[in-house]
Amino acid sequence: MTKPYHFDVLIIGSGTAGLTLALQLADTANIAVLSKDRLEEGASLYAQGGISVVLDEADSLQSHIDDTITSGAGLCDEDVVKFTVKQARKSIEWLIDQGVSFTKDGVTSETYHLTQEGGHSHRRIIHASDATGREVETTLLAKAKAHSNIHLFPYHVGIDLITSSKQLGQSDNQCLGCYALDIKTDTPQTFIAPITVMATGGAGKVYLYTSNPDVSTGDGIAMGWRAGCRVANMEFIQFHPTCLYHPKAKSFLISEALRGEGAKLRLADGDEFMADFHPQAELAPRDIVARAIDHEMKRLGDDCVYLDISHQSKEFIEEHFPTIHQRCLSFGIDMTQEPIPVVPAAHYTCGGLMTDLHGRTDIAGLYAIGETAHTGFHGANRMASNSLLECLVFAHSAAEDIKQQLPFSNDIPVIQTWDASRVKPAKEAISISHNWDELRRFMWDYVGIVRSNERLYKAKQRLTLLQQEIDDYYSQHQISSDLLELRNLADIAELIINSALQRKESRGLHYTLDYPDIDTKLAAKNTIISGKS
Ligand code: FAD
Ligand code: SIN
Repeated sequence: MTKPYHFDVLIIGSGTAGLTLALQLADTANIAVLSKDRLEEGASLYAQGGISVVLDEADSLQSHIDDTITSGAGLCDEDVVKFTVKQARKSIEWLIDQGVSFTKDGVTSETYHLTQEGGHSHRRIIHASDATGREVETTLLAKAKAHSNIHLFPYHVGIDLITSSKQLGQSDNQCLGCYALDIKTDTPQTFIAPITVMATGGAGKVYLYTSNPDVSTGDGIAMGWRAGCRVANMEFIQFHPTCLYHPKAKSFLISEALRGEGAKLRLADGDEFMADFHPQAELAPRDIVARAIDHEMKRLGDDCVYLDISHQSKEFIEEHFPTIHQRCLSFGIDMTQEPIPVVPAAHYTCGGLMTDLHGRTDIAGLYAIGETAHTGFHGANRMASNSLLECLVFAHSAAEDIKQQLPFSNDIPVIQTWDASRVKPAKEAISISHNWDELRRFMWDYVGIVRSNERLYKAKQRLTLLQQEIDDYYSQHQISSDLLELRNLADIAELIINSALQRKESRGLHYTLDYPDIDTKLAAKNTIISGKS
């Protein structure tokens, strides 16, 4: 068994949230950053549209606040919205200081091009062409690699948190670190730190069709929940309206920024349909656009709808959407000439570990930032490009809070290292891969864009059987990253289904045939599920 690692701050996740926090703390603390894949992998790398921030003189903070609250369908925490929107400019300036290069508007050398996306009543999305996430992630990672206080651990999968209540039998629960599996050597490792931060991203992989990368399996939410944290609003899973529909195109997003530049949604016969569903048509909030597409596909029995930006010139498209243009061309689709086939797919997890304005969770010493967290900013439906903003703002405020606790005491608790003495190697992997597929399929079919009590109960029944199998398998066999992810996905499915069953109305991203209307008496009522242990 290897010796435990000791750090001041352990950050699990190297996306925008995790790296921003690491860089903010690096001059004052010794930091470990874990990533379960290569360091740049994560939703952040694939973000296209950009980051919302008020920069245009005709725009205002109040307008950004109002739009966010309207999209959030009555469940945004107004104080959190005001706080986040007001910090946006500072966060963007910090990114620019780190070397992030956003697209300029060509008017002056100092001013930036702003796009518009669904729910926003102004152009307020700063971006780096159509690959904003790649620019942000690679710039921050290069900085982190260059800092001697930041120790990067790629291919290390967090298994479970180490808490004082489980390790030492203490009643006031405190986080002491995390066990992680080094995938390259198949060795469980122990990381001990007075502060642990979950920055593990979202849980889109719980659905069969998703825009999310493979790492988005909700690990941080599941680990935090198992350790005793409350989890809020997991029924609000955002389905992005437009992912490329092509048998070989795994999880490729067609940015909402296309609709911001006038792209129209069309049926197979070329007819537009969004104006029948909402006065803002293509720029209606995402939940409405995704449901309208789902409705039309089911009504007509079609496999997809079409997004048409061919009214813009070839030069405009090549300049503004080079990544999307090239990717479509690689599948034989020339978006300058023809509409792009698109379908909705699971995209963003609005719920998560409950935190305060500093990212603190229910467990002392445990923070959550980025998509893993539920801060109250997004309510029942996240507005486009508000996610990277939340990652940045809450990484900054968590950093301020953590700095105030420095220096940490030198008392190091005695922690049991990982015990694998009672498990045996798995003989075959088929039950893990079968259960992965089954889980993602019934979540898509029964807990997707349109739900009903009957569908949710069917999903719950199947999940109960799967969970028994997963628990038995987990207690008897050596761990692997696929097994760890499956166990986490099952916890995430349980949280989503139970939250959806509790919400007896349709609001924002949660739509159920049994309660098709919003219940105004439930305004401001979050769905909160207590910690598992
Ligand atoms: P991520 O960037 O997902 O990073 C998670 C990290 O955690 C990864 O390093 C991963 O390896 C690690 N990790 C996970 N589990 C474990 C574990 N068990 N152990 C160790 N490490 C672990 N939002 C916007 O605001 N604007 C956009 O334009 C935009 N476009 C998007 C486009 C796409 C295709 C997608 C999928 C999302 C988009 N979003 C956008 C949403 C936004 O990108 C994400 O919400 C945001 O990047 C999340 O950042 P994060 O740091 O919380 O997590
Ligand atoms: C997009 O570019 O459409 C994604 C934006 C987001 O998810 O915020």
